Amino acid sequence: MLKIGIIGCGKITEVRHAPEYSENPNCQIVGFFDMVPEKAQAMAEKYGGRAFDSLESLLASDLDAVSVCTANIYHAPISILALRAGKHVLCEKPMATTRQDCEAMVEEAQKSGKFLMIGLNQRLAKAHMKAQEILQSGEMGRVITFETKFCHPGPEGWTGSKDSWFLDKRIASFGALADLGVHKTDLIYYITGQKIVKTSAVVTTLDKKLPDGKPISVDDNAFCIYTLESGAVGTMHVSWTNYGVEDNSTKLYCTDGVIRLYDDPKYSLIIEKRNGDVTPYQLDFLTSNKEQTSGGRTSTGVIDAFVNSIITNTPSALSGESAIHAMNVIFANEESAKLGKTIDVK
Ligand SMILES: NC(=O)c1ccc[n+]([C@@H]2O[C@H](COP(=O)([O-])OP(=O)(O)OC[C@H]3O[C@@H](n4cnc5c(N)ncnc54)[C@H](O)[C@@H]3O)[C@@H](O)[C@H]2O)c1
Repeated sequence: MLKIGIIGCGKITEVRHAPEYSENPNCQIVGFFDMVPEKAQAMAEKYGGRAFDSLESLLASDLDAVSVCTANIYHAPISILALRAGKHVLCEKPMATTRQDCEAMVEEAQKSGKFLMIGLNQRLAKAHMKAQEILQSGEMGRVITFETKFCHPGPEGWTGSKDSWFLDKRIASFGALADLGVHKTDLIYYITGQKIVKTSAVVTTLDKKLPDGKPISVDDNAFCIYTLESGAVGTMHVSWTNYGVEDNSTKLYCTDGVIRLYDDPKYSLIIEKRNGDVTPYQLDFLTSNKEQTSGGRTSTGVIDAFVNSIITNTPSALSGESAIHAMNVIFANEESAKLGKTIDVK
């Protein structure tokens, strides 16, 4: 039975990490830590285990693995400390806030021989997995263009606060660009099996304001034009200013037809063949922020994948190493937006 600790006891711990670990028969949550002690205490009362009064004491205990669910700038330092303490780490996205920190996390995982996994749960959505399989089988030919979107009303609907750290550049580092964009950038890499080699991006703050009326210090929209290794070109739009129904859709326009993902209320995947055949699949739904915060939870599979990786000693598809590509694209997007030119992804 794996012994688990959770660091950071906010929303994602409440709706995902704590309930999904507690439902997994191969592990047991034995400790929580949060910089606000009452939050760790509340989680321990609900899910068992104890609230630790410091990060050091939690990492010094006999845990096998931890989830890092803090605000963005703490992901790298805490993950590195946990790996050094001999724990496997599941770190929430975005992996870190600098390229150097992302690389340091991967190096530390290699040195420690422990697993480092990043919570890029979109790879595990059933329709995304099926689309990847269909595309890799060759039955849709080659991708020519694509469009992917993740647009919702912003973190206020998630945290319930109009001035949370998500809106503060000093703690979040990025806005919608990485909060949502890292999922969709990684998804394009995963589904097509191709790296993004160039990007041209506009990363901007168009609407969102703090309660005092000042604009937030991070972006609320990012528009990115991606070129893949094959020369295919597509767009990613991520936004915190969609005040209607959440849009989490992707379309891939291929030489033999179109793959439509999560853009239809009934079917999560629709295959439209060039010869006119249409095959709809109902595989699952992506839970929107609104549904998750109102208790309508479906398992993302991330926690089970992490636990499974450790108990079978098998590296996960969501490894730190594989998450670095999407982060490098995010950093290239920032550079492109700043310089106003197309950037080659490092
Ligand atoms: N995979 C996903 O789809 C997904 C969804 C939502 C959030 N997230 C990520 O999860 C992370 C947490 O988001 P959230 O929505 O739970 O935020 P939140 O503000 O609700 O919770 C963060 C918690 O971490 C605590 N904390 C912050 N810094 C800490 C530190 N140094 N040490 C200990 N505790 C600390 C805070 O007190 C708070 O309780 C973010 O990085 C976010 O991007 C991922």
